[in-house]
Amino acid sequence: MQPVITFALAKGRLAEQAFELLEQLGIDCSEPRHPGRQLVLWDRKNNVRFILVKPSDVPTYVDHGVADLGVVGKDTLLESGRPLYEVLDLTFGRCRLCIAGYAEQQQSATRATFRVATKYPNVARSYYDSKGQTIEIIELHGSVELGPVIGLSDVILDIVESGSTLKANGLTVLEEVCECSARLVVNRVSMKTKRDRIRQIIDGMAEQVARLNN
Ligand code: PRP
Repeated sequence: MQPVITFALAKGRLAEQAFELLEQLGIDCSEPRHPGRQLVLWDRKNNVRFILVKPSDVPTYVDHGVADLGVVGKDTLLESGRPLYEVLDLTFGRCRLCIAGYAEQQQSATRATFRVATKYPNVARSYYDSKGQTIEIIELHGSVELGPVIGLSDVILDIVESGSTLKANGLTVLEEVCECSARLVVNRVSMKTKRDRIRQIIDGMAEQVARLNN
């Protein structure tokens, strides 16, 4: 009997693309594709269990070992700082973490410190620390582009995908912090205790990713 494998998936587009990959491996994703209000979903035949959670909670579930595997954006992973095994770049959900603001961006003359609005305070802190620049972080949970537009911050650190939100608000990319995409992550203990089954899933997903990118 195969051990139960639990997947934590970031609700939304990343989960949809993960289902496509998993279905190629013969895992039935019909329950998690139509979850209703149910939070724990199953493919009982293959002993695979799914939990669909907020993206920023995926690393938490995997780190605590209540999920063996997770699919989550690299941006969220960096922000979480959790010690997970990042085993595969799934290559979908591509975007860039960037510093953005007005092209002729200058620090507000009325403020002593440079202000960065972001949903990624840990990433922002380590990025500016590495440049030796002191900043003030303004943590927001959405519509971050408003920061410079309304005068709350000098710049933002946020993900840029198509660039249309920046453009619509008269902002531009000033610096690129890093490239991001969806990643497959594994709990450190599960990697040992459920080694064969997890290896089989990683290898299967890697094969599908390679096939899709050829
Ligand atoms: C994300 C991100 C940007 C936008 C970037 O926001 O925070 O605002 O998408 O995408 P684009 O480059 O294709 O325009 P999201 O849509 O998740 O909403 P939020 O602002 O409420 O977090």
